[in-house]
Amino acid sequence: MFFQKLFTSYKINQCEIKNRFVVPAMVTNLCDEDGNITEAFIKYHEAKARGGFGLIITEDYGVNPNGVGYQNCARLYDESQVAANQRLTDTVHMYGAKMFAQVFHPGRQTSSAVNGGVQPVAAARIPDAFNREVPHELTIPEIHQLVAEFANTARLMKKSGFDGIELHLAHGYLLAGFLSTRQNRRTDEYGGCFENRIRIVEEIYHAMRAEVGPDFPLTARVSLTEDTVDGRQMQETMMIVKHLEKLGFDGLNLSNGEYTSYAPELISSTFTAKGYNVENAKRVHEFVNIPTIVANGINDPAMAETVLEQAACDFVGMARASLADPDMPRKAARGQLSSINYCIRCLQGCEGSLLEGKHVRCLVNPELGHETEYTFEQNPESKNVLVIGGGPAGMEAAIAATRQGHEVTLWEQRNELGGEFVSAIYPPAKGEYANFLVFLNHQMKALNINVVLNQTATVENVKEFNADKIIVATGGNPNKPNLSGIDAGNIHFANDVLLGREPIEGEIVVVGGGEVGTETAMYLADAERGHVTIIEMTGDIDAGLLRTVPTKRLFRDHEVTIITHAKVKQFNNNAVVIDYNGQDERIAADEIVLAMGYHADNELLKSLQSQLDNVACAGDVIEPTNALEASTSGFKAGYYA
Ligand SMILES: Cc1cc2nc3c(=O)[nH]c(=O)nc-3n(C[C@H](O)[C@H](O)[C@H](O)COP(=O)(O)O)c2cc1C
Ligand code: SF4
Repeated sequence: MFFQKLFTSYKINQCEIKNRFVVPAMVTNLCDEDGNITEAFIKYHEAKARGGFGLIITEDYGVNPNGVGYQNCARLYDESQVAANQRLTDTVHMYGAKMFAQVFHPGRQTSSAVNGGVQPVAAARIPDAFNREVPHELTIPEIHQLVAEFANTARLMKKSGFDGIELHLAHGYLLAGFLSTRQNRRTDEYGGCFENRIRIVEEIYHAMRAEVGPDFPLTARVSLTEDTVDGRQMQETMMIVKHLEKLGFDGLNLSNGEYTSYAPELISSTFTAKGYNVENAKRVHEFVNIPTIVANGINDPAMAETVLEQAACDFVGMARASLADPDMPRKAARGQLSSINYCIRCLQGCEGSLLEGKHVRCLVNPELGHETEYTFEQNPESKNVLVIGGGPAGMEAAIAATRQGHEVTLWEQRNELGGEFVSAIYPPAKGEYANFLVFLNHQMKALNINVVLNQTATVENVKEFNADKIIVATGGNPNKPNLSGIDAGNIHFANDVLLGREPIEGEIVVVGGGEVGTETAMYLADAERGHVTIIEMTGDIDAGLLRTVPTKRLFRDHEVTIITHAKVKQFNNNAVVIDYNGQDERIAADEIVLAMGYHADNELLKSLQSQLDNVACAGDVIEPTNALEASTSGFKAGYYA
């Protein structure tokens, strides 16, 4: 048996959990807009249970119709909702997994736009930096009402067949807000000293315990550190966890942060060290005598086993790792580590989709959230499929089509697979992204897909190939503006610089402050290639979801100059001439890097579509977007080939 510790069972209260792999709570937005359980929600959880996770914790359930952070989040407050939840727990139990429900109130970390038009409520009237609405300060009768609602939900959760309940005291939500002086400015018996600030938690605990009885697991999720200017640090947390243990909680799920924390983030990006919480969790684990779980940036079973070997916790939470690959425990049990689809901590599909009000997705796993659609049960008639282009879209298309039973050939004009994603893994804090290409390459080989490198597609040779279905995924090419001086020898495309094809140094100007531009600037600054200036047309640089703040910090350290609201007019005599506030300004440049976006490489697609009726397309050839959309559309095109 690989990973001895991970595959040892352990109990929380009376609940025996078959291994130490835990899926911590994650909002999916897969319920209906009243928070009712859907088939998609059940199938999403079924995949994780089938994949071998021992304990699955649901997303944060609301205790009333308005207590949610996202419109399509689960709620459980009425008998009529029990049957669907029972179907959920029955499904998960079929695989020997256990399921806890997380229960919470969002407090100020929501908005009236998603919670039924109601003003958010909180311990005090301090708005949250993301959601911005000034919350209503809960009155004492309202607190009592809320305590009763938590108890009611706990009763219904037990009735629905959940094996335990996790009370959410972390991440800046309502109860975390009461606990922390960062949010709690009350002057009544729920504010001020620790005894008062924890009062609401005690009341909820006792009310829930009265409903579920002594043998039913009641655990708490706690942020070890809040990672904000005036947030809580470890000594106060030690006091809280001891208190929770004495109160009677059966376990602790240890996390960090609130939703305004940047690097370290509570859903860590690659700017935050892996296993960020492990050291602090170990302190708690040694201090209390109830089971502990730790999460954040543990996305690999080898690391999870090591965390257990260090006696830092009893269970390892692997949230996004389960989104990227719900089969991870099963693969780990067989020692098939290189066949795991590792989470690359990009945040694009999971947190990014939620912030756009959509359901959870994953850049490296296009099936996520579509488990009811991509069943691979239709057995379509086998076709001869030609995929043109070997970037993520083309590879996903080839993989999905092969899994559907088609005979697939993939042509790539370069001498390697990966497309533009290859250069995307070179900037600092992007090394983990290589895992995605490693996984795709592994799949291509495992499925025996016929890959032809250095093969340029033309209308003639594609016709000659005589495929039943053609999927064009030729991607995009970097934009080159039609400006005077553009063909000078010191002008480079960002991807050539990132891949080391055109090593440059000196006074460097990067034109374009989007993701590619900022990452290339960071790459050059980090490698100390010289002084870097970014010229951006809009009011700010944009390094991608939640990456701009840590990127700017790095820019400050390396003294990168950022010029915004500036439009490039021409390139001349080792300088970039910009229009800045209506004036021409000359920015000295030994080397100039273009990062001005992409345009679709769609000439072949247009020609083929005008002559053939069996042509589909995927990825940036439709419209340049990002790797999430590319992998999603690629998989879809392959599935429906
Ligand atoms: C899409 C998404 C939704 C999340 N929703 C919740 C939630 O409802 N409750 C919660 O306690 N944590 C939530 N989290 C935080 C995770 O439980 C976990 O702590 C975090 O992702 C770090 O762990 P990981 O690196 O294993 O993903 C969410 C994370 C993600 C990615
Ligand atoms: S979208 Fe990115 S961060 Fe989120 S689970 Fe997938 S790989 Fe991980």
